[in-house]
Amino acid sequence: MKKAIVVGASSGIGKEIALSLLRDHYKIGITGRRINNLEEIKKIDPKNIIVSSFDCTKESNAKKLDELVKLMGGLDMLIISSGFGDVNKSLEFSIEDKTNQLNVVAFTETVGWGFNYFSKQNSGHIVAISSIAGIRGNGLAPSYNASKAYQINYLEGLRFKAYRLKKSIDITDVRPGYVDTEILKGNKDKIYWVQSLEKANKQIMKAIYKKKKSVYITKRYNIVAFILKFIPERILKKLF
Ligand SMILES: NC(=O)c1ccc[n+]([C@@H]2O[C@H](COP(=O)([O-])OP(=O)(O)OC[C@H]3O[C@@H](n4cnc5c(N)ncnc54)[C@H](OP(=O)(O)O)[C@@H]3O)[C@@H](O)[C@H]2O)c1
Repeated sequence: MKKAIVVGASSGIGKEIALSLLRDHYKIGITGRRINNLEEIKKIDPKNIIVSSFDCTKESNAKKLDELVKLMGGLDMLIISSGFGDVNKSLEFSIEDKTNQLNVVAFTETVGWGFNYFSKQNSGHIVAISSIAGIRGNGLAPSYNASKAYQINYLEGLRFKAYRLKKSIDITDVRPGYVDTEILKGNKDKIYWVQSLEKANKQIMKAIYKKKKSVYITKRYNIVAFILKFIPERILKKLF
């Protein structure tokens, strides 16, 4: 039986991925701060779901993952879906800090733990949910876009590292556009092109099983990504 850990599985994209893996006969380890949400998920298949509730910004991620992987008896796939972002027009440092502590600091520890674990066994698959936001800057939520740019760049670096070390580690960078989850904070109707979680998850799972290097979710966001890469700053600054 294959084994996967989903960091940030208590809601949204991470939860959907975890449930898909369970349906596909994976044993799963699920994490998040909201223990009640995780325990609800565990009820679906208590034998094949292991819960580890912790705050990625307050605990040692490496220690928590070591403990979890021991309980699971091994690991084939690590999915990092934990993430935070908020509009921060006044550049309140607490919001920028909270974003960076999770999306940069905890992300780095978690993805590094995964890389070293899979290096030792010379196999494994790391999947991280970054964002299309990582392509360009954003004046409304500067740390969110910058932290996602960091994730995209870091994952590419790890792919180079795996190649140079001749390690059989696959790394998939999932870059969603807007998906209908709690991270939108109830603003779904004010945002253009919000995709359903179900549709997004279908495409994410397809990319994971194909071991794609990177993928925009949903497919229509390929067009947005293309435009974002080439749109001049003088136009973009009027939008974000
Ligand atoms: N939805 C979108 O439009 C969209 C677009 C692009 C990228 N993304 C990315 O997709 C990923 C998943 O987000 P989502 O849309 O599924 O939103 P979500 O439902 O809010 O999920 C976020 C997950 O992160 C976990 N998390 C947040 N802070 C944490 C902390 N300090 N410690 C541990 N876990 C923490 C949450 O669990 P707890 O609250 O239980 O801790 C939850 O499971 C994020 O990285 C997000 O940036 C989302």
